[in-house]
Amino acid sequence: MGSEVDNAAKTFTLPPKIYDDLINWERRLAREGPFIQALFERCGVRRVLDAACGTGRHAQLFHSWGLEVEGADVNAEMIELARQQFGTPPGLRWVLWNFLEPYPTPGNFDAAVCLGNSLSLAKDGDEVCCALANLLGAVRPGGIVLVHVLNYARVPIGKWVWQKVARCQLEGRQVLALKGIYRLGDHALMSFIFVDPVEPEVLGSYVDVLFCQVLKAVGEFLSTQPPAEAYLFLDYVPSSRLPLEPGTRGQFSASTDILIFIRK
Ligand SMILES: C[S@@+](CC[C@H](N)C(=O)[O-])C[C@H]1O[C@@H](n2cnc3c(N)ncnc32)[C@H](O)[C@@H]1O
Repeated sequence: MGSEVDNAAKTFTLPPKIYDDLINWERRLAREGPFIQALFERCGVRRVLDAACGTGRHAQLFHSWGLEVEGADVNAEMIELARQQFGTPPGLRWVLWNFLEPYPTPGNFDAAVCLGNSLSLAKDGDEVCCALANLLGAVRPGGIVLVHVLNYARVPIGKWVWQKVARCQLEGRQVLALKGIYRLGDHALMSFIFVDPVEPEVLGSYVDVLFCQVLKAVGEFLSTQPPAEAYLFLDYVPSSRLPLEPGTRGQFSASTDILIFIRK
């Protein structure tokens, strides 16, 4: 894994603890969990790979449902925080893995998920296809892959959109965090800025580059390697199911979240 792990580790620069603190996990998992749980139940999922697991919250949730789970991430600090937060009880493992490389135990899982818009951290369409091939490679025949991406059709081009303001701790201080996105075309900048709530002072900032054409790349990949099934779901609503076809681009302006579902 060597140098590729090191390079890819820089694709998400926000420190793990700050990322974890910035999210209202109770609210987020209450929105996402029921959809994922129903999908897993329908597809007979027992063993799950959580690719780009970050701080491990989804992996821990899946484990609490009685599933066997591996949480995998390219960033060793993320994996370390996940391990600290949730330990390694039987059936829950934490693994350092770059989704641009084949998973070490191919065909081992019933499901591989890649949540939290993580596939947008791929550099371009080739990397998305490579990661998707590796996610599919990790699951058995008939197994499923579930990828979450933001609906970039909602993000205007050439304009900062400030999406969120939250309180969090930065180096032991209470600070305000602002999260914004600036779309340039096929790519976008995602920025976190930390401000002192009392003094007019910027205390830190992190910027990452997002690839906005994940859906297009996935459609093209699937046209050359047709899966057993491929659908989209919007905003974690089961009844929103749409066919995923090569021309599908994400023209669903009312939805913030797109779920790509593929059965191998
Ligand atoms: C926005 S966080 C999402 C984390 C988690 N899945 C969630 O939903 O909260 C993106 C994660 O993708 C991971 N990541 C980025 N590039 C990766 C790669 N090439 N292989 C594996 N993980 C990667 C980052 O280290 C980070 O933990």
